[in-house]
Amino acid sequence: MVQIAPDLPLTDNCHHYTRLQDVPWDIQKYWKSRFKIFPNYNDGIYLTDDAWFGVTPEPVARKIAEDIPLPVFPTEYYTTASYSPPATTVVDMFAGAGGNTIAFALHGYFDRIISIERDADTLACAQENARISGVGEGVIQWVHGDCFEVLKELLRGRTDEGYIDDDTIDPLDLKNTVLFASPPWGGVSYTSQAVFDLSTMEPYNLQALHDACYPLPHALYLPRTSDLQQLADLFLRREPESVHVNGEVDVQSEDTETPLPPESKLDVVQYCMHGFSKALVAYYPADKEELERRAQPCGE
Ligand SMILES: C[S@@+](CC[C@H](N)C(=O)[O-])C[C@H]1O[C@@H](n2cnc3c(N)ncnc32)[C@H](O)[C@@H]1O
Repeated sequence: MVQIAPDLPLTDNCHHYTRLQDVPWDIQKYWKSRFKIFPNYNDGIYLTDDAWFGVTPEPVARKIAEDIPLPVFPTEYYTTASYSPPATTVVDMFAGAGGNTIAFALHGYFDRIISIERDADTLACAQENARISGVGEGVIQWVHGDCFEVLKELLRGRTDEGYIDDDTIDPLDLKNTVLFASPPWGGVSYTSQAVFDLSTMEPYNLQALHDACYPLPHALYLPRTSDLQQLADLFLRREPESVHVNGEVDVQSEDTETPLPPESKLDVVQYCMHGFSKALVAYYPADKEELERRAQPCGE
């Protein structure tokens, strides 16, 4: 069972810097952009020093929150209606200081927001930032732990057995959940490569992230220079017919004339601010056969 984290106290590692001279030199450039990252910084936003390197700027997080409620099954796979409603649970695997989680909560679409962070100080900042950003009590279910372990537990699926108390996360409804992952990128070494080799990303490379999130639909927040071919290859291993990158490239085997179902597309979106990309997000759809298999109640 996965426990909901209590409200954690801010510690000496959580800072709300107000003067440049107090800011460590290596994060000064980020602090100077603090109002672009958090327009409400002066309301009392807290970050650990490490969190500055990875936080998603608010305008980007807001746009992702608009884009991410995608149908788990975009076709008539489970319903006879031509429209499948988008997933209503989102799991933010790497909460950080809360940039994306807060945007998911403020967007108001999701019924359930589960946000996982393994560093207690960073989680305390995220909780505080959510509070001062106007996110209501209990809207976000925070989890203090390793997202890979937590996800394994959550992916066991819904059971009707046993009593689930208020401090425990209800297992996921697998047909109704989308995952968001903004992992550490292993420092800024990606900026020195024209095309970033995602197999070298540390501490978790593309394959490790995909393996953890599969078979749920998952949005991966990655360096803007990420190797699109590697993103596509991962997808092609599952969906041999096509790949659709950045809404432009559509590769299809020559012997098929039939239009491809929408879930056969991999959307990769660059998120820009002031004309420059901050990151890209690859939106991997669900693997419907595997998901259906896992979502079956035992014995069926
Ligand atoms: C790039 S930051 C996420 C930033 C976040 N999206 C935001 O806007 O603030 C990555 C975060 O993942 C956390 N992290 C790294 N490995 C983790 C793991 N295995 N489980 C949970 N959290 C992890 C780090 O402590 C860090 O805070």
